[in-house]
Amino acid sequence: MSKIKHESVEKNLGWLSIFMIIAISIGGLVEITPLIFQKQTNEPVDGLKPYTALQLEGRDIFMREGCTNCHSQMIRPFRAETERYGHYSLAGESVWEHPFLWGSKRTGPDLARVGGRYSDQWHYVHLMNPRNVVPESNMPGFPWLAERKLTGELTAKKMRVFRSFGVPYTDEQIANAKQAVQGKTEMEALIAYLQSLGTALKRAE
Ligand code: HEC
Repeated sequence: MSKIKHESVEKNLGWLSIFMIIAISIGGLVEITPLIFQKQTNEPVDGLKPYTALQLEGRDIFMREGCTNCHSQMIRPFRAETERYGHYSLAGESVWEHPFLWGSKRTGPDLARVGGRYSDQWHYVHLMNPRNVVPESNMPGFPWLAERKLTGELTAKKMRVFRSFGVPYTDEQIANAKQAVQGKTEMEALIAYLQSLGTALKRAE
């Protein structure tokens, strides 16, 4: 008897669709709902600091130049990853990321913990022409970043928007934002951003 009923549901497109939606919704809710309330996924890890004005501008340049097309920022909890890149990424490290840049495309290495791995000078040479430090690299160079200067016109505004999303910028940081970035090159901003990546956990230790 039950076999016949099951068959009739499978053959009825309307009922099948409705039951599928119900089944998938329950599965989704069971997975997603607890994450919304878990401290671990909502609260910043100890030692997390909002990006400085310069780092924040660097992050925008990272997005503009399409670095995300080749670089992820998400270390998965597998041995092959943690041995190469360091501690796997924690949700609490990304709570102030809007939007997050986890990505999945890895033409180049993951950058989630690249902060502090190389000197500023190394990054400069590498970004001008990667083959000057990594002969077999197929990463493009970004030499124009060293020439273009930041005006800082929008920096304070960006920080206010981030604050409206819950990033704890102080009035003082926002007031000083323009001054902090004005006249710096885009290269300096990008390197400042790269050097900050994944350093919160190290600070907490
Ligand atoms: C076409 C793909 C591609 C793009 C676009 C790209 N990269 Fe890369 N990147 C690579 C590859 C491949 C490597 C590994 C070889 C090397 O070190 O140059 C790499 C390496 C790196 C490294 C060294 C990472 C490590 O742990 O050794 C950094 C830092 C980096 N890229 C930053 C950037 C930034 C910043 C941008 C954007 C301005 C960018 N990349 C754009 C492909 C890319």
